Amino acid sequence: MKEDVDVIVHGAAEVVTCAPELFGREARHAWPARGAVAALCGTDQDDCGVWSGAALAVRDGEIVAVDDEAALLARFDAPERLDARGGTVVPGFVDAHTHPVFATTREGEFDMRARGASYQEITAAGGGIFSSVRALRDASRDELAAKLDTHLDRFLQCGTTTIEAKSGYGLTPQTEWLALELLGEADASHAVDIDRTCLAAHQVPLEFREDRDAYIRLVVDEILPAVAERGLARSADVFCDQGAYTVDEARTVLAGAQAVGLDLRVHADELAPVGAAELAAEMGARTADHLVKVSPGGITAMAEKGVTPVLLPGTCFSLRLAEVAPVEAMRAAGLPIAIASDFNPGTSYIPSMVQIISLACGLLGMTVAQALVAATRNAASTLGLPGERGMLRPGARADLCVLDVPNHLFLGYQTGWNPVDVVMKDGRVVHARRDARQ
Ligand code: NIG
Ligand code: FE
Repeated sequence: MKEDVDVIVHGAAEVVTCAPELFGREARHAWPARGAVAALCGTDQDDCGVWSGAALAVRDGEIVAVDDEAALLARFDAPERLDARGGTVVPGFVDAHTHPVFATTREGEFDMRARGASYQEITAAGGGIFSSVRALRDASRDELAAKLDTHLDRFLQCGTTTIEAKSGYGLTPQTEWLALELLGEADASHAVDIDRTCLAAHQVPLEFREDRDAYIRLVVDEILPAVAERGLARSADVFCDQGAYTVDEARTVLAGAQAVGLDLRVHADELAPVGAAELAAEMGARTADHLVKVSPGGITAMAEKGVTPVLLPGTCFSLRLAEVAPVEAMRAAGLPIAIASDFNPGTSYIPSMVQIISLACGLLGMTVAQALVAATRNAASTLGLPGERGMLRPGARADLCVLDVPNHLFLGYQTGWNPVDVVMKDGRVVHARRDARQ
């Protein structure tokens, strides 16, 4: 008698499990597990756990078995089958840093940068984040919800099943709360799972330019306490960099967030080495993101305090940065590296984690295996959502993609074409560009 499950995924040339433990390869490096998913750190991240010819059994939205196909088919029966047709099966991508609530795009700024303007110059002239703030404040709730829905559809079509998503283009109590409410509604209605972050400290709004402290007090005394009380977000973030918040200002914001029970994430040292990574470590932040200009001391402090670097190569590409984050030094320090799209209208209008994996390989010098782990398991380890995700092993959620490529090395190697054929979320096919059932 065979065991009944809901779905069997078969016909894969490779299954990328991101779980080397399945092969008895236990972690050599230790890292504080803060959520449901333990990261792979240091050189452990070199192994993405590829299983050639494996199949998966799925029941109640969870993976119950991964095994050689013949063995799995001998043990399980299912009313539904998903044929990978010789493709590669990977965990649904986890995008650990996005800004998907905005009203208008900013392609004009991309062109201005091509003509020589810098991101900081555009911001100082009232563009950049400020132009997105003006647009969001003028938009209706329905318009914003519709745009957000379009962004989430694109994530899903690109194989992303879970995102971290920030507010940060309203910069008033009402508009910051609105963005987080919309994300909450989208989480309930859309297949993509959303872990929310309040980024009211994205910039100091122009109307507070002469009294920055007054806005910081508004964030700490009014915006963040209500966010925590109403359960609108799990984390808070601050943009600590040249032309944004100073380290002292950011410390005040982070301390306020911590006091009301929010987890901390930091936009850190993207444009200048201001010491934001050190601050993230001092405050016990879950992540420090960007890190293009991080100092050696910042890396050491992050490793000591268990702060995960979230690297965003899409912004290096879109901003034409000459420098990128020092991946080798981070690996040598034993850090687990995550990568993310930073999807936003200004510095990375890139929804695809497949594209981000290519950029991580081409710009950051990561291997495909490292980048795959960074875009799945390690990204999931920075979130607070329940359930194992970002890996394919028994007990994990059945969030996966069938890619129309014969092996995982095509990620990075092939770019400019979306290889995502089928997306499964919690055991259900939620996107397919061909008949997924077989
Ligand atoms: O992560 N660096 C700060 N914030 C965003 C950019 C936002 C924008 O320019 O609209 C980022 O790159
Ligand atoms: Fe960002």
